[in-house]
Amino acid sequence: MSSKRISLTQYLVEQQREHGHIPGQLRLLIEVVARACKRIAIQVNKGELGDVLGTAGSENVQGEVQKKLDIIANEVLIEANEWGGHLAAMGSEEMDSIHVVPNRYPQGEYLLLFDPLDGSSNIDVNVSIGTIFSVLRKVNNQRGISEEDFLQPGKQQAAAGYCIYGPQTTLVLTVGDGVAMFTLDREQGSWVLTQENVQIPADTKEFAINMSNMRHWDAPVKRYIDECLAGKEGPRGKDFNMRWIASMVADVHRILTRGGIFMYPWDKREPEKAGKLRLMYEANPMGFLVEQAGGMVTNGRQRILDLQPTKLHERVAVVLGSKNEVERVTCYHLEAD
Ligand code: AHG
Ligand code: MN
Ligand code: MN
Ligand code: MN
Repeated sequence: MSSKRISLTQYLVEQQREHGHIPGQLRLLIEVVARACKRIAIQVNKGELGDVLGTAGSENVQGEVQKKLDIIANEVLIEANEWGGHLAAMGSEEMDSIHVVPNRYPQGEYLLLFDPLDGSSNIDVNVSIGTIFSVLRKVNNQRGISEEDFLQPGKQQAAAGYCIYGPQTTLVLTVGDGVAMFTLDREQGSWVLTQENVQIPADTKEFAINMSNMRHWDAPVKRYIDECLAGKEGPRGKDFNMRWIASMVADVHRILTRGGIFMYPWDKREPEKAGKLRLMYEANPMGFLVEQAGGMVTNGRQRILDLQPTKLHERVAVVLGSKNEVERVTCYHLEAD
């Protein structure tokens, strides 16, 4: 291993000192989230031995059956973040409403949103899963905290990231100055910077979409995928490959690593013009990362980070990844309107 490797702490201190990107409270917040992810990784790794697999027998506010690890990861994140003085409140995919930092602890300037365990359907089959987080500033200092304080467009995020629990445990982070990746050194228990200035290539020959929903798609999505499937002989003049892991963290991690396009589009079963994924816990943080890596993120028509959220658990259609492909899908939608 190169002797020049630096730790997450050192990276954050340098960001704070040299680049002036992050105030002390934000640095503390990110370190606490990273520590919580380490604890979640330990639980994930135990699997059957730790009695963490299977369902918990409850449902979340979105009507999904909760897995034991959805609940464990949610509790770890709350417990780790509650007392540090850096946060005012938290919101989670697994909680009906926001969790305000209790009075016995000081209230900080930040709001934290998370998808504690992304890829729940992959937990029991030993496939990569993750934790996604998004950090907002508390804008209103006049009164107590409410759900409304969280309803800020994604472009206002102060930081975002995810931790992927796969063959390696990797933390991927942006504080608005590019994307950096940190690999967990299990022996040392520390996060080591393993990649900086992550860049998504503008072109790709790989798409990710759940093809089983094809009959429910809108025409522009069908057109795009049909053209990919037509390969060399079709209008695109090249063969495409397909991947679908069903853990957004793992699909986005592949795209940050080698490019690609990921889509969870609106489909006709949905009553509103929205897809399956959640704006605040999934689309916004992943959108911030992908844009910081030179990629593009839309809901098929508009930039996701510009959307004004109307509720905490809002859902949104997502098209993200290599710029030229996302642009193409977005044009197909706008042409069809
Ligand atoms: P979560 O496990 O947090 O509820 O999110 C699951 C999401 C996302 O990770 C993934 O891209 C998508 O659901 C998979 O959906 P399908 O099962 O419809 O393929
Ligand atoms: Mn879920
Ligand atoms: Mn998720
Ligand atoms: Mn989840």
